[in-house]
Formats: sequence, C-alpha cells, structure tokens
Amino acid sequence: MTWPEDLDRVLVTEQQLAAKVGELAEQVRAEYAGKNPALIGILTGSFVFMADLIRRLDFDLTVDFIAVSSYEDATISSGKVRMTKDCSHDIAGRHVLIIEDIIDTGFTLEHICRILKHRKPASLKLCCLLDKPSRRRAQISPDYVGFEIPDEFVVGYGLDFAEKYRHLPYVGVLKKEAYQA
Ligand code: PRP
Repeated sequence: MTWPEDLDRVLVTEQQLAAKVGELAEQVRAEYAGKNPALIGILTGSFVFMADLIRRLDFDLTVDFIAVSSYEDATISSGKVRMTKDCSHDIAGRHVLIIEDIIDTGFTLEHICRILKHRKPASLKLCCLLDKPSRRRAQISPDYVGFEIPDEFVVGYGLDFAEKYRHLPYVGVLKKEAYQA
C-alpha cells in the first residue's frame, strides 16, 4: 500500500494490533465464554476491530451494531451524540460488551451506555481498542483497553478523517496541516 501523503507516522503497527487483539480476546474469553454475550459494535469506526476480535473468540456470542454520529466531518466532538441506527436485537438479560475503536471525550459511550442500561442487560461493559484519557470529558472508563494513546489525530484500522483512511491496516497519525487546513 502506498504511503498516504497526509500521514505523519505509524503509531500502532499491524503486528502490534494483531498481538493486542489476541490479548484482548483472551481477556474477553475469560469473562464471557459460556455466557453467550451480545457484542455490540459502534459504527462506523469499530468494524475492523470487531471483525478481528470476534474471529478469535471460540464460544457462542451474537453480533450487533449501533451507529452514532457526533463528529460528522469535524475533528473535535460536538458533544451532541445522535443515534442513527439502533441495535437489532433485544438485550434484556444479556451480557453486553460494547466494542469501540476509540474513546476520546467519552460523550459517545456515555450516551450509548445511558440508553442501553435502560434496557436491563445482565451486564454492560466496554472494550475499546484506543483510549485518549487526556481528552476525557464524560465519566466513562473502558473495562478492556488496547492502547492508551497521546492526543493526536489517528486514522486507520477503521478510524477515519472525513471518511478517508479507514482501510489502512495500521493506526497512523495524521499531519496537523491535513486537518487544520
Ligand atoms: C468516533 C469513534 C467513537 C467516537 C469517540 O466516532 O469511532 O465512536 O468518535 O469520540 P468521543 O469519545 O469523543 O465521543 P465518529 O463520531 O467519528 O464516527 P465514525 O465511527 O463513524 O467515524
């Protein structure tokens, strides 16, 4: 794959991602094997992580998705989270594990957790590949975390900038001039 000119550097390589997804799968397996959990991915960014994670889980589970939008084409969260697609299955009494690509301000997960808790799941936990704790504004902390990362604009492995770069197989840092232009 050619190097996108908007990228400054690779932050997490393909190999590091694969190893971390394997570690997370072991942790998820230890807690959820035999419980038929409902894994719910937050679209769009989580789809690559979700796909890699579930293929390492060798027990019964179900897969669902919620779509939200808060950033639209901006680089900073508006704080106004809008659900554009609800999950398709009832979660009452289910062990729910939310799969997210990145937590930044935490507004997205705060909003989703508030909605899902009303539906009386047996449990509700968060699995997040990337965490930017320095940016947190909502009281949300993931139960499973892949990498804590610095406050830089990252793309790839599902994450986008204005819908570009989701298909990169690594997590890269965008050049400031690319999004400040
Ligand atoms: C991104 C990301 C998270 C959210 C995290 O989604 O996928 O869902 O922002 O930010 P927060 O913690 O500040 O709420 P985005 O709204 O960009 O949509 P996308 O997944 O479709 O790219």
